[in-house]
Amino acid sequence: MGSKSDFLNTSILIASLAFFFTASVAVNTVSAEDLSSGCIQCHGQSSFRVTEKKLYKYFRDWELSIHAQEGVACFDCHGGDPKSSDKETAHGKDINKLMTPVEYERISETCGRCHPQHIENYKKSKHYRILAAEGRPHPTPNCVTCHGSINTAIPKSDSIAGICAHCHNTVTENHPETPEIASYLVERLSFINSYFRYLISKGVLEKSPGFSRTIDNELSELARIWHTLDLDRIEAKTLQIRTLMMKKRKELGKESKQAD
Ligand code: HEC
Ligand code: HEC
Ligand code: HEC
Ligand code: HEC
Ligand code: HEC
Repeated sequence: MGSKSDFLNTSILIASLAFFFTASVAVNTVSAEDLSSGCIQCHGQSSFRVTEKKLYKYFRDWELSIHAQEGVACFDCHGGDPKSSDKETAHGKDINKLMTPVEYERISETCGRCHPQHIENYKKSKHYRILAAEGRPHPTPNCVTCHGSINTAIPKSDSIAGICAHCHNTVTENHPETPEIASYLVERLSFINSYFRYLISKGVLEKSPGFSRTIDNELSELARIWHTLDLDRIEAKTLQIRTLMMKKRKELGKESKQAD
């Protein structure tokens, strides 16, 4: 085998080839086929509650996830053959192997098949560049570090600091200020989201559909910038959206006074 990075490049190549074959079926709503897939039939069987406690926990995690709601099933992330009800054939070539699709080095490609904008921007981050160059041992975060694996979520302001502080702290002396900054930025983001909901409840959708579209686009752009982890750009974009909201709030206030 060649160097580590050759190996990684090969995995990425395989992952991107896989993308071409699966892209057209990637994002679906729950279909009868998904629900009856061999993976879920077997992993979700109630006897596993007792006989395969630890394994069953993964099924439960999945069941409660946004991915389950969206019809993203075990094989979308793990590979294997969902049509088979036999363990060995179902697991096939992907599961129980050294470099499975959910292995640290490959997870981002696996997630990125369905979240192309997030991986595209994540690849611009120093985190990704280090991971791609050095592989194991895992010196930098991937999608799962920040979002969790099966039951993914968007990190909250109180949890994100802890994620960053794992590596960024005064002992490692690796940018020890980042946890605090990340927490501040996610807090502002959640403020923006609740403020937007408030404005919608005050009729902004009806009165200024253009404004709602602008904010939607700005929020998508912010999510993209987040994945580059360029904290200065994230902050600038966050404050810019916040200012747009405040201005609209004032305008709406004036309009309703004039209407009275
Ligand atoms: C007939 C039952 C059965 C079917 C079908 C099945 N599995 Fe499994 N799976 C198991 C059992 C039992 C284990 C526990 C480990 C073992 O016995 O090999 C397991 C283990 C796993 C693991 C953990 C492997 C590891 O290295 O720890 C993953 C991931 C997995 N299955 C995913 C899938 C996916 C994806 C499918 C569908 C494509 C699937 N399974 C279909 C029974 C099944
Ligand atoms: C959105 C992607 C995703 C879906 C859907 C998903 N998994 Fe996983 N799963 C992962 C990732 C990523 C890991 C690796 C965890 C880690 O490294 O923290 C994992 C780990 C596991 C493990 C532990 C063994 C291993 O290979 O690391 C089992 C068992 C498992 N999943 C079973 C399932 C089953 C059963 C389903 C369906 C009911 C399922 N998963 C659905 C992404 C997914
Ligand atoms: C087969 C396609 C597919 C794969 C693979 C996949 N996702 Fe998703 N994911 C979706 C869909 C569809 C949604 C719901 C719509 C949306 O928010 O984009 C979603 C939603 C999300 C969300 C938003 C959660 C929220 O609360 O709004 C996160 C975060 C996420 N996925 C992360 C991941 C991670 C991390 C992985 C890899 C471990 C992954 N996804 C793999 C399709 C996928
Ligand atoms: C698993 C360890 C790990 C985790 C978790 C982690 N980082 Fe990093 N991060 C690193 C390493 C390693 C570097 C590279 C340090 C260097 O060489 O400058 C880095 C660099 C950075 C940089 C500097 C980037 C640049 O272009 O100079 C920023 C900003 C950063 N991380 C933010 C974060 C934030 C925010 C979080 C939490 C959401 C986080 N990191 C989580 C390991 C980690
Ligand atoms: C360093 C932490 C970190 C890493 C690594 C990371 N994310 Fe995120 N992700 C976030 C944060 C913070 C948000 C919320 C940002 C926002 O909505 O503006 C987010 C939001 C998201 C969303 C929902 C936002 C939207 O556009 O609707 C998805 C989906 C997502 N990430 C997928 C991924 C995928 C896939 C990867 C890996 C390629 C990944 N993330 C890597 C921190 C991270």
